[in-house]
Amino acid sequence: MPLFLGLDTGTSGTKALLIDETGAVRASDTQEYSLSTPHPQWAEQNPDTDWWRAAQAAIRAVLSKAGVSGSEIGGVGLTGQMHGSVFLDAGGNVLRPALLWCDARTGEECAEITAAVGGESRLYETIGQPILASFTAPKIVWLRKHEPALYEKVAHVLLPKDYIRYKLTGEFATEVSDASGTSLLDVRHRDWSETMLSALEIPREWLPPVYESPEVTGRISAEAAELTGLAPGTPVVGGGGDQAAGAVGCGVVEGGLVSSTVGTSGVVFAHSDGPFFDEQMRIQTFCHAVPGAWHLMGCVLSAGGSLRWYRDTFAPTSSYDALTEGAASAPVGCEGLLFLPYLTGERTPYPDPDARGVFFGATLRTEKNWFCRAVLEGVAYAHRDSFTLLSDIGVPVNQVRASGGGARSALWMQIQADVINQPHVTLHADEGPAFGAALLAGVGTGAFASVPEACRATIKTVSETTPNPDTVAVYQRYYPIYRSLYPALRNAFAEVSRVVA
Ligand code: XUL
Repeated sequence: MPLFLGLDTGTSGTKALLIDETGAVRASDTQEYSLSTPHPQWAEQNPDTDWWRAAQAAIRAVLSKAGVSGSEIGGVGLTGQMHGSVFLDAGGNVLRPALLWCDARTGEECAEITAAVGGESRLYETIGQPILASFTAPKIVWLRKHEPALYEKVAHVLLPKDYIRYKLTGEFATEVSDASGTSLLDVRHRDWSETMLSALEIPREWLPPVYESPEVTGRISAEAAELTGLAPGTPVVGGGGDQAAGAVGCGVVEGGLVSSTVGTSGVVFAHSDGPFFDEQMRIQTFCHAVPGAWHLMGCVLSAGGSLRWYRDTFAPTSSYDALTEGAASAPVGCEGLLFLPYLTGERTPYPDPDARGVFFGATLRTEKNWFCRAVLEGVAYAHRDSFTLLSDIGVPVNQVRASGGGARSALWMQIQADVINQPHVTLHADEGPAFGAALLAGVGTGAFASVPEACRATIKTVSETTPNPDTVAVYQRYYPIYRSLYPALRNAFAEVSRVVA
């Protein structure tokens, strides 16, 4: 029985995961690296000394831990942090450290690109998304403006996982889900947008051909085989951006299924059979790693990050279990104490870097534990904003699959189910994007007939948290008040930013 390798070039490390055709994990290995911030707002990593070095070590380690040889691997699937920019010269050499998804230096370039394309409504027509500082196109424009000597030498621009593909196979290739996060893909038609490329004067030859996620894009080269222990000729499929591959790993590959992940950030991810967009561009529509499907994605920048901030700031010696136990003793809705989790600005539904965290509604009755519960409830209200957008656009939600740290707390799961008023299920394994990438390798090499079939064969739900009608009724009354706070505070957030700057 062949094994499949998923390789995730993440932000804190690279994870290699080996699974078999039943979805059983045979071994995994993670090699860590750090992030460099040479200036405030910058975030960079080195494609060679960070990612490629870690990829080689993780692949060698996972083969050795599983006690298998490279020839037993039927296929490789790649995933990784999205949006990063790897600039290569004509010889395929890295020109500078990659700018990452969490790099915020390109505010000006975002505004320039929006103007160059003809404003927000033209953007909606061409790519269906606003230009966000996270995305790739503003990074290319930044390089042209700030490092023109390097820009002159650029011959290829790749996403992080696609640089690893180039090192493994010698091929330049990407796939639709990750390419959707560049701001250069015509997401409706699943190919590069000539309109964007010509408005930004970016040569199409710089960008690799775009594949569907399970398609074979190349094979392990003799040189890469030598360095990793994989067998030369092993097929490498397109794979997916970490969000799309993570959704495959949760089985969110059919209409009605939605994942809700509370990690440092929080992501609500819905499968969609058609390219449905929010005209106000408050939620992102990208191509899914399922051929012919799309997905909608709402992102809360500080979800689990808000709870970690709360603990580090107010209860540094407490465990998360102790904190949530205390929070369970607070009244549902905290008698009107509400928390806006905008500690690092926000993406969905308000793409506003100036937005700030807020506790609202304390009284003399408010106790310390209530603040913790308010944080848990505030993150759930922020997720509900994404669910509200899905329902406005007409995307059905039949089942919510919860994952990440937020799914490990029974209290937080209950709060999410009650605030969103939908049952939340958990899965037997939570291996993240590498698992989805490995499944895509299984599909692309013929072990499974389709992505949904791969998921049905390997993913099982284990528990369900159902909404409690009494609690739902309380949250239904607080949610409109939560919703009213950002519009009321928006100008004050911008003013505070000017004062602090
Ligand atoms: C998705 C996003 C993150 C990064 C890093 O839009 O910004 O998920 O891919 O994980």
